[in-house]
This record gives sequence, structure tokens and C-alpha cells, in this order.
Amino acid sequence: MTNNKSGRITVPKIVKMKVAGEPISMLTAYDYPTAKLLDDAGVDILLVGDSVAMVVQGNDTTLPVTVDEMIYHATLVARAAQRALVVVDLPFPENHLGVHQTVATAAKILKRTGAQAVKLEGGADQADVIRGLVSAGIPVMAHVGLRPQTVHVMGGYRHQRNAQELLGDAQAAERAGAFSIVLECIPSDIAKTVTNSLKIPTIGIGAGPACDGQVLVLHDLIGLTSGYVPSFVRQYAQVGQTIREAARAWTRDVKHRSFPSQQEGV
Ligand code: KIV
Repeated sequence: MTNNKSGRITVPKIVKMKVAGEPISMLTAYDYPTAKLLDDAGVDILLVGDSVAMVVQGNDTTLPVTVDEMIYHATLVARAAQRALVVVDLPFPENHLGVHQTVATAAKILKRTGAQAVKLEGGADQADVIRGLVSAGIPVMAHVGLRPQTVHVMGGYRHQRNAQELLGDAQAAERAGAFSIVLECIPSDIAKTVTNSLKIPTIGIGAGPACDGQVLVLHDLIGLTSGYVPSFVRQYAQVGQTIREAARAWTRDVKHRSFPSQQEGV
């Protein structure tokens, strides 16, 4: 694991990890106890993703989550993180409201939460916004390929396969000053070409093994989803099942008056 003197992962450290050939791990986090566990486990980047709208709030898309809700979740995560870099998604449609407005929103997120960087969906189309944020001192992680905030334009969640467009988007984001780029749901060979053409790290989700790092939505990884699990997810636990079984056993004990026992009092 790459640490600076204080043990903290920083934006420059993330870029250096690519040079050193050290894979970058990033997971989503939305609350204090989970963020603390992920930080303790050595995850390099905690992403307060707008996926919170789906996996925590129960919506069908990422669109409903607000800036204030992102600030709330990011505050909890940043409070827990001792080592990991904390990156916060700009929720729909914040980065499409002009450079000035986006800088104001991103600055508010960093000032209020203690997070260190923002992520935005977009590549070439967002170059001016990325440039404006970086010149204001706000590190930016770009996100190209499948962009969940454009779900209604795509008519669903569609894999992206236009190699020229993907390469152009990634290179434009790098030129504009992004420190890393998420590649979502693109063919592995295109992800490899994009990764090899950039100095900044790529972090893949459904983009194959050649990326400089990998990201997953934590709830998919630990089996805390309500059903559908994407094909690119590897599940390492079945936490949903564990919670259901614990709650069922406790309810049974309450109904049978076997909880609490005489010893389980004050
Ligand atoms: O919001 C999110 O969780 C994300 C990841 C899927 C990269 O953007």
C-alpha cells in the first residue's frame, strides 16, 4: 500500500501508483461505520458515489440524489477515513450548469465534508468544467464509458463500445487536468488501449483487468443488494443473507419469549 509520511493517500500518490505499477482499489462508501471498516481494510479510495440514490435510497436511477444529500453522506465518510482518499460524486445535473456553478458546488462539497476530490461523469464534453475545477484547486476524477446519469438518453444502461470516442474522452479529460478516470462498462481491449495511452490512472468497473485500478459498488461486493448483480461483480460475502437470518432468529426469540433471558438485563 502506498502511504505518504502521515499515512494518508493523496491525489499525487494516486497518480504515482500508476507509475509504480501498484493497483488502486476503490469502493463506494456512504456512512461512517462502513467507511471506517473499508479504511481499516486498506482500500485506497472511498467513493461517495451517486449510486447511493439506488443502493441506499432505493431509487431506480442515480438521478434523484441531491447535493445536500451527497454532502451529508460525504461528511460521514470523510469523518471515518484516516488513510483513504475520499472522492465525492457531483450529482445530476450539477456539472452541466456551467463552470462557475460547478466550481461553487464542488467547493461547497469539499469545504463542508472534508473530502479531497470530486468525480464527474464526462470526458471531452466536460473538459472546460474539469479545467475550471482544477484551476480552483479541486482535484477531479473523470468518468467515461457508461455514464449512469445519461440513462434516459441511452434508454437503459448500455455498454459503450466506440473506441475512438472513448479514447478521445479519456485523453480530453487528462489534458483538462483530471487526476484519474473511471472507465465503466467498456470492452477490456479498449480499456487497455485507453490505459496505455494515459499518464493518469484508469479505474475500471466492468472494464477488464488492464485498468490501473478497480472499483465496485460495496453493496454488490458484499451481497447487500435486493437482487440483480452485474456480471462484472465478484461477491466476497452474503451480508444481506446474514442480516436477514439474524433478524429472523431474533424475531423468533422475541415471539417465543426466549429473548431477553434473565442474564440479558441491567
Ligand atoms: O456512483 C458510483 O458508485 C460510481 C461507481 C460505479 C464508479 O460512479
